Amino acid sequence: MTAQTAAGRTPLIAGNWKLNLDHLQAIAFVQKLAWTLKDARHDFGAVEVAVFPPFTDLRSVQTLVSSDDLPIRFGGQDCSEHDSGAYTGEISAAFLAALDCRYVIVGHSERRQYHGETDEQLAGKIAAAHRHGVVPVLCVGETAEDLETHGPSAVPVAQLRAALAGVVAGQEIVVAYEPVWAIGSGQAATSDQAQQVCAALRATLVEVLGEEASAATRILYGGSVKAANVAGFMAQPDIDGALVGGASLQLEEFASIVRYQKHVGTV
Ligand code: PGA
Repeated sequence: MTAQTAAGRTPLIAGNWKLNLDHLQAIAFVQKLAWTLKDARHDFGAVEVAVFPPFTDLRSVQTLVSSDDLPIRFGGQDCSEHDSGAYTGEISAAFLAALDCRYVIVGHSERRQYHGETDEQLAGKIAAAHRHGVVPVLCVGETAEDLETHGPSAVPVAQLRAALAGVVAGQEIVVAYEPVWAIGSGQAATSDQAQQVCAALRATLVEVLGEEASAATRILYGGSVKAANVAGFMAQPDIDGALVGGASLQLEEFASIVRYQKHVGTV
């Protein structure tokens, strides 16, 4: 049985490991995570749990998850817009699919900022993911400057609209609203602020993909999510999960975020 949000969407708690944990550390971490949540099998039934390790860990994580039949999904932190060819250093969505990756993060603000990824490129990456049956987790979010200049929703909505250029209704996508000023800062958005932007993102999904596709699409909040604030986000009608960075590397904290329903009423 899978619990769902009030709107009928399966919650997704995703851990973005960034540039942390090599393949041996990844094996140990995923084993412990599965063990920590094992006494509460219902946790896995109630919430979809996914981890996003570095590329070099993926084969090890795949082997562990499949041999022990662990109910943990995993994905890449990025993919190329190309399927193959002379693109040194790139990883194809086809390769991720071959490793059973269910998801791939596209357009994380650190990729936009440090690698100059453009909205156009990101639309290409989303198309590449869809070509190979991998679900893109598109990150959008405004910087502190954007917030001051354009208000809370304008930049994330524009980023979403641009990234959706080639997407049609029926192609699964997950959207992660991650205000850049909240990432790694310890300063999360309030749940009301996050809801306001996520509602604007959902309205954009309705406009571009239609009512039905929008209703089926999960929107996550990311940016300094912790066990202490996750329930507040999850209570919002347009927030269906969390993309967790720093706290996803702390086993107990991440397990506690997965069990966000236990914190309901505490925030
Ligand atoms: P954080 O990172 O949870 O450490 O703020 C979130 C992210 O970058 O996805």
